Amino acid sequence: MIIRKTQSIRGMYDCLPEHTLLWQQVENMLKIILNSYGYNEIRFPIVESTDLFKRSIGKITDVVEKEMYSFNDRRGHSLSLRPEGTSGCVRLGIEHSLFYHQEQRLWYLGPMFRYERPQKGRYRQFHQFSAEAFGQIGPDIDVELILITVRCWKTLGINEYVNLELNSIGGLSSRITYKKKLIDFLKKKIDYLDTNSMRRLYSNPMRILDTKNSKIKELLVDAPILMDYLDDDSRLHFNKLCELLDFYKISYKINPCLVRGLDYYNRTVFEWVTNNLGTKKTICAGGRYDDLTKQLGGETIPAAGFAIGLERVLLLMQLINSSILKRTVCIDIYLIYSGNDMQKYAISFSEYIREKLPSLRVMVNYGGGSLKKQFDRAKKYRSKAVIIIDENYFSAKKVILKNLQCRLQEIIESNKIIEKLHDMFL
Ligand code: HAM
Repeated sequence: MIIRKTQSIRGMYDCLPEHTLLWQQVENMLKIILNSYGYNEIRFPIVESTDLFKRSIGKITDVVEKEMYSFNDRRGHSLSLRPEGTSGCVRLGIEHSLFYHQEQRLWYLGPMFRYERPQKGRYRQFHQFSAEAFGQIGPDIDVELILITVRCWKTLGINEYVNLELNSIGGLSSRITYKKKLIDFLKKKIDYLDTNSMRRLYSNPMRILDTKNSKIKELLVDAPILMDYLDDDSRLHFNKLCELLDFYKISYKINPCLVRGLDYYNRTVFEWVTNNLGTKKTICAGGRYDDLTKQLGGETIPAAGFAIGLERVLLLMQLINSSILKRTVCIDIYLIYSGNDMQKYAISFSEYIREKLPSLRVMVNYGGGSLKKQFDRAKKYRSKAVIIIDENYFSAKKVILKNLQCRLQEIIESNKIIEKLHDMFL
């Protein structure tokens, strides 16, 4: 009988050691940046009630209609794997009274799930690094969020490959007026609309604005522009935002078709896009969502945030610097031994080194073997140095240290090794 190999699920990927190293580096850089702006980390479940996502993202959105991984638990409650984090973050804040008379600046990181058609940069399990700021009504916080993203791109070395697109979708009243105008316009072009746009025409017509269908895109050139219907407060907010971005010399393009695929946004929406990943792709998206806390049963708290799509950022980094993954996993010191029953001394010695220099990666040879074989293993692990615990030297409280990078070898008193390794590695 042939036993079929088990496989990962389409659109969901494993992360091997070299990649994990890069992920860790990127995540650490982003954490340091968010920390430097005073944002605090939160963690919340991957599974939430389906109702949460319907109420926040909106029932008539691609994400809720087609892309959620939903299932019933044993009691028949509908649960979903989170397709994004803002909903869970707001749920957490309301449930733990984080927003009660206080501002909050939060960040989180983790996997999200959407049943989309997988392609380069689009997966069914992907990871977002997000920041959310609660309690600030002004455009200054929108700018802070954008400044944070700019710092992220500079730190990761991708700032020259991404562009900022910006829009304001106003408040509810401006969107109601605008939707009527848009429907009137689209009704006149009804023969040209595809089934998806037809479906959206009355339920969510603004979603037609970011269609991928090139024929409809052409039609939309003459469509009414949301910006022309903005309420006064939203217009002032947007003007001030642009003024501040100009002041900080952050370039941006106003994209009147930018409406976002999640229903909770109002006023500012923005996306960082790149043309370097095949088709135009968004690597980070966000905006204001001042009504969401109320919609989910809390007080009205103004809020804004963004999410970075980590897979896309990593793809971009690898594209810009093809050798980025060649900084492969390696270890610093490999301990080998010669003589009867010497492995146990090598292990004790390695424990001593870890105690004193915990940041070094130290490994002991397992499985015995001749010195040559042990050296070969050290090379396979790409060790930078080897310490040889030799029976004769060890009884004289000495070890042999070989630097595999410059091939220098020296005999060192065991109690001097820490000082030596410190100079060598730290
Ligand atoms: P979003 O635009 O749905 O916004 O997702 C944010 C980012 O996640 C996208 O720009 C993209 O980089 C990445 N992303 C989305 N779907 C996929 C996928 N299938 N495969 C790979 N990457 C993907 C949100 O999720 C909002 N919660 C952002 C936000 C936070 N707004 C305010 N606060």
